[in-house]
Amino acid sequence: MGTVTTGPVLVTGAAGLIGGWLRAGLPERGWGLRSLDVVPLAEVRPGEEQVVADVTDLAAMVDAAAGASAVVHLAGIATESTWPAISHTNIEGTYCALEAARRAGVPRVVLASSNHATGYTPRPAEGLLAEADAPHRPDTYYGVSKATMEALGSLYVDRYGLDVVCLRIGSAFPEPTTVRQLSTWLSPTDTVGLVDAALTAPSPGFAVVWGVSDNTRRWWDLTAARALGYEPVDDAESFAAALLEVHGQPDPTDPVHTRVGGEYATEVFDAERIEARQPAARDEP
Ligand SMILES: NC(=O)c1ccc[n+]([C@@H]2O[C@H](COP(=O)([O-])OP(=O)(O)OC[C@H]3O[C@@H](n4cnc5c(N)ncnc54)[C@H](O)[C@@H]3O)[C@@H](O)[C@H]2O)c1
Repeated sequence: MGTVTTGPVLVTGAAGLIGGWLRAGLPERGWGLRSLDVVPLAEVRPGEEQVVADVTDLAAMVDAAAGASAVVHLAGIATESTWPAISHTNIEGTYCALEAARRAGVPRVVLASSNHATGYTPRPAEGLLAEADAPHRPDTYYGVSKATMEALGSLYVDRYGLDVVCLRIGSAFPEPTTVRQLSTWLSPTDTVGLVDAALTAPSPGFAVVWGVSDNTRRWWDLTAARALGYEPVDDAESFAAALLEVHGQPDPTDPVHTRVGGEYATEVFDAERIEARQPAARDEP
């Protein structure tokens, strides 16, 4: 569709980590906010609309999407979990976000995908990895939900003419805390910039882009994200000396560093933890 309308942006999962960054940063870039989460916000900002709803409640989502200019869909389980939990919250939730946008006439949806949609993809021998060279090779049920998210987005572009931008987010945290994250970090500032670019790019159609900062050690190509208008300002390298002092130099043959999904795509990322229903660290170890 390519039309940016003037209504607020409906942000699902607004009470979470990335939601908090967007709620602070998007208004500074001129966006109005309608913030939806299954839990109430700790504090509602001036001018912000709050919706307390479950993203898998399609009727509530259609109501929430009415008059919005775009949907930024973050809500879900942000790490590995059981299949019933992942399939319900992440896959059904993504369907509801897209279907609500379609029914409410919202022209654009930005989806919080993940590197784990393609986690078993190997690092190229040299150079940067383009999104098109990283097919779906999910490393977990969580990764399956993100591959499915991208597939659903593609369907809603081709069948219904929406614009859908999928962000294959790396490690979105206040700062990198592992050596791997020196490559995969997406800073809070760059998260806001990337979402803003996905909201404003003229007629993106269906787009899938990596979500990382301009890290010196990154091996995911930012050409496609930059084509949307993304201009990263941060580089994890400023944290490198301190992290390497604690953790040592990375072993370049370690699958943690040779597969897109890092630890999630290793044998030690154990099924036992899932069986025991113990949460892993959020998205990135
Ligand atoms: N942080 C990262 O490094 C990272 C990396 C890749 C992808 N992502 C994706 O980005 C999104 C946001 O991640 P985050 O780090 O902010 O996670 P988070 O856990 O901090 O936030 C998720 C939010 O979704 C809400 N939520 C969960 N189930 C819901 C439901 N049924 N209905 C409505 N709201 C619901 C939670 O209450 C929470 O506020 C997730 O989809 C995650 O998979 C994050």
